Amino acid sequence: MNGGEETLVAADAAELARLGAELIARAIAAAIDARGVARIALSGGSTPSEAYQRLAALSLPWAQTEWFWVDERAVAPDHPRSNYGAARRDLAAAPIPEERFFRMEGESPDLAGAAARYERLLRARFGVASAVSFDVMTLGIGDDAHTASLFPGTGAAGIEDRLVAAIPAQPDKGLEPRLTLTAPVIQEARLKLLLARGAGKRGVVAQAKRPGPADEVPARVVRGGPGRLVWLLDAAAAQAG
Ligand code: 6PG
Repeated sequence: MNGGEETLVAADAAELARLGAELIARAIAAAIDARGVARIALSGGSTPSEAYQRLAALSLPWAQTEWFWVDERAVAPDHPRSNYGAARRDLAAAPIPEERFFRMEGESPDLAGAAARYERLLRARFGVASAVSFDVMTLGIGDDAHTASLFPGTGAAGIEDRLVAAIPAQPDKGLEPRLTLTAPVIQEARLKLLLARGAGKRGVVAQAKRPGPADEVPARVVRGGPGRLVWLLDAAAAQAG
């Protein structure tokens, strides 16, 4: 059973950002109508930035939103590579109370401990007896087909015994260690919004849409679970071939 899957193709980056903001805003409004609160999990990367900025300019019941992160790099919150820092700058125009932001502790010297603390925080916010079902989660896809910080060939896409995992550094790719939500939490989100832009993403998007081992193409994990999946692509990323 899953909540369905569709692909929306935007003509260009501006339309992708506009549609992204609109989909996130609608999911926030629907969640607040249904449950009085909207819980959003944000990915980093360059693609969603403009969508977050457009979202922040909209009029929404911001005090009823709660903001979480899909993944974080092992840096301090004020570091240029911090996903938390980047999203806070993008969302700066929205009057969201400070205590509604729940960041991952990327700066922690003990990332496994930070992952366990974030898992406890999620369980507490969602209710210990409830599933951790984000109302909307933004996702990206890397040139190597990673999503969140689930990298290929590392076994990370197959982690099912934790909601949050610490991911070791990959010095060969120049990547610092990470914290990430795992596949079961990604799959549980009510709306999974995967944004990809540019011809460079065409091949990995096509691979991720085909069934196969998730360890080779981690972005395949987004297709499982009860939530609705929207691929929001620009024309270049969407082209077959
Ligand atoms: C991160 C991200 C990551 C991202 C993809 C796509 O922290 O790096 O959360 O999973 O979504 O790498 O990034 P772009 O949008 O920059 O292509």
